[in-house]
Amino acid sequence: MPQPASNGPESESAPSARLLPGGPVAESILADVATRVAALTGGGITPSLATVLVGDDDASAGYIRIKQRQAAELGFASPHEHLPASATQADLHAVITAFNDDPAVHGLLVQHPVPKHLDYDRALQVMDPDKDVDGMHPLNIGRLALELPGPLPCTPAGIEALLAYYDIPVAGREVVVLGRGATLGRPLSILLAQKRPTANAAVTVVHTGVSDWPRYTRRADVLVAAAGVPGIVRPEHVKPGAVVVGGGVRYEGRRLLPDVDESCARVAGAITPRVGGVGPTTVAMLFRNAITAAERATGAAGEDGAR
Ligand SMILES: NC(=O)c1ccc[n+]([C@@H]2O[C@H](COP(=O)([O-])OP(=O)(O)OC[C@H]3O[C@@H](n4cnc5c(N)ncnc54)[C@H](OP(=O)(O)O)[C@@H]3O)[C@@H](O)[C@H]2O)c1
Repeated sequence: MPQPASNGPESESAPSARLLPGGPVAESILADVATRVAALTGGGITPSLATVLVGDDDASAGYIRIKQRQAAELGFASPHEHLPASATQADLHAVITAFNDDPAVHGLLVQHPVPKHLDYDRALQVMDPDKDVDGMHPLNIGRLALELPGPLPCTPAGIEALLAYYDIPVAGREVVVLGRGATLGRPLSILLAQKRPTANAAVTVVHTGVSDWPRYTRRADVLVAAAGVPGIVRPEHVKPGAVVVGGGVRYEGRRLLPDVDESCARVAGAITPRVGGVGPTTVAMLFRNAITAAERATGAAGEDGAR
C-alpha cells in the first residue's frame, strides 16, 4: 500500500497522496511493443494499424494524428481512410470491410465519436474482431467475460497495468468502481475480478441505481471513478489512505473535467494526476493490442501475457 507523504502542519491544504502518473506505465508498455515490432520487422513482416476518421471534428483529427505519429515511431505501417462528414453508414462499412479483407492490415480502429447520423456500434460489429484494437467488439467483450484470448478493452487494461506498475495490490482487496458503462466500468469490473495475480479483487460496481453509493466507495481500498460526472468523487467518498484512480472525464470544449475532485489527494494514499493518469495507459494498450494482433495474424510467437 503506498504511503502518503507526511506533510507538516504548514502544508495542511497541500496534496499528500502519492501521484500515479500514467506516463511511465505507458513508456514501459510501449518499450515492450517496440521490441516486439522489431522482432516482427526483422522477420520481414511490418505490423500495420489502420485508422478510419469520419468527418471534420478537430479533436478527433488531432487524436488520429497523435496515434499515427506514435504508430510510425513504433514501426507500424498506418494506412488511413478519411471519410467526409456526409459519409453514409454503408460508406463506413465498406472502408472497414476493405481493411478487414486486407491481410497486410493487422489492427483497425475507427475514431470515436462518428458524426451523429452514423451508428458507431453497428460499424464496430462489421469489424473483424481479431483486428479490433480497442477491444470493444461484442465478441471481444464476450472473450473478456469468458477469459478467452483476444484484445482487451484499452482503458480497463491500462488501469490494471497502472496498478501493477506501482505495486498496488488488488488481489483480495476491495475495489469499488463508480460507473457501469460499456467502455470502462463494466469491463474493468470483469477484468479486476479475474483470477490473476494483478487482479483477483473483491469488486463492487455502483451506479445511479445505488443512491447511497458513498457507503461503498468509503470502504474501498481502491476506488475507480468511471462516471463521467465532473467532481463527483470528493474527499468524503474516499477511505483515508485509499488508492483513487480517475478514469471518468468530461470534455467541455478542450477543457478536461475529471470525475475526481483534486481535494481527494488530501485523503487518498495514492491518486492518479488530474491530467496524464489513465489516458497514456489507454493509448499504450491500443498499441499492445495492435502488436498482439499482428503476431497472431502472422503466426509469430508472442502471447503478450495479458491473455
Ligand atoms: N481516460 C480515458 O482514457 C478514458 C477512456 C474511455 C472512457 N473514459 C471516460 O470514462 C467515463 C465512463 O465511460 P463509459 O462509456 O464507460 O460510461 P458511460 O456509458 O458514460 O456510463 C457512466 C456510468 O456512470 C454512472 N453514473 C453517472 N452519473 C452517476 C451518478 N451521479 N451517480 C452514480 N453513478 C453515476 C452511470 O450509471 P447508470 O448506469 O446507472 O446510468 C453509468 O454506469 C467517461 O467519462 C469517459 O469519458 C476515459
